[in-house]
Amino acid sequence: MATMADVARSAGVSVATVSHVLNGTRPVLPHTRQAVLDAIDSLGYTPNTLARSLVTSRTRSIGLAVSAISNPYFTEILQGVEAAALEAGYSLLIADPHDDPEHERKVAQLLHERRVDGMIVAPSARPHDLVGYLRRHAVPTVFLDRVIDTPAGGDEGATPDGGTSWYDQVCAESTAPTARLVTHLAALGHRRIGMVAGMPGLSTTEERVAGYRDGLVAAALAHDERLLVSGDSESASAEQATTALLALPDPPTALVTGNNAMTIGALRALRRLGRSVPDDLALCCFDDFAWADLFSPRLTAVAQPSRELGAQAVRVLLDRLGEPRRPARTVRLACTFAHRTSCGCPEQPGAAGRPEHLEPSTLSEKGTVS
Ligand code: HPA
Repeated sequence: MATMADVARSAGVSVATVSHVLNGTRPVLPHTRQAVLDAIDSLGYTPNTLARSLVTSRTRSIGLAVSAISNPYFTEILQGVEAAALEAGYSLLIADPHDDPEHERKVAQLLHERRVDGMIVAPSARPHDLVGYLRRHAVPTVFLDRVIDTPAGGDEGATPDGGTSWYDQVCAESTAPTARLVTHLAALGHRRIGMVAGMPGLSTTEERVAGYRDGLVAAALAHDERLLVSGDSESASAEQATTALLALPDPPTALVTGNNAMTIGALRALRRLGRSVPDDLALCCFDDFAWADLFSPRLTAVAQPSRELGAQAVRVLLDRLGEPRRPARTVRLACTFAHRTSCGCPEQPGAAGRPEHLEPSTLSEKGTVS
């Protein structure tokens, strides 16, 4: 097997120069660099990253822990992480902690024992042990999708660096886009709008529930607690919750679902009960997915920038690795509104049918609340 010394000899340079070309640690003249790359190619040299890690204490690997990897939302996040990591020369170690606090703490330990340079984690609803472990071991970490607003792990008071965030975090806007779904339904004349919300304790659930309430206030609709039910982020419990909503003496005429899995659960309940969308129940969903426009009617939905969330998490982590003392930050990405027909609107022609960018303050259509 060819060694670095063989490459150096063949290219007529020193071993240090070969190392600089491989690691990008110093600029190398273009023709020298090319000679090294040609020698690597012709000798079939494969760098031994384990040996390199022993010298540099860096593995050029990132640990990724997200639950429900089979959910298309998280699969797309994973694709975004993978592409951005590859571009930066990092490989990934992937784990699915199944939203279980004990499992996620173990996963963090295993990834840390493999000496990943940093981690990207979508924390569970009870991340105390996870956060405690990561802080104790000073693991550079970016929290993804679910954010942690208050310091977990026993710390209180101001952030460590006087910044606005306790942790590096990347998430999508949830509150205003959910409010937008509610005001859209209210503008269509609905007065009883229900919501099947996600797993309690996740920031995404709390923000979407806050958005539901904001939307009701903006549309001057009374809030009936019985119309807000928990789907626990799973399709089976969302099916039950939707069934319970429709069994109320005064059921909702419109429904907002808190994520893609719960949209599926709600649709199952509606089919089982023989109700049709949008005539019996208008439907607006949080989360778009590849086949959402193949349903009949096509699903009106808020689309999260899932791939970009993953890519951005890698960028934030690489910034942290490059500058360990920089202030922590929370990056929030905007969603888009895919206006289709499950809300009860006719097919949107031309520009009106294109996905609409939702600024964090987008509460209602064209700035007015009806
Ligand atoms: N967070 C955000 N969006 C989602 C989730 C989640 O846990 N599950 C499905 N869509």
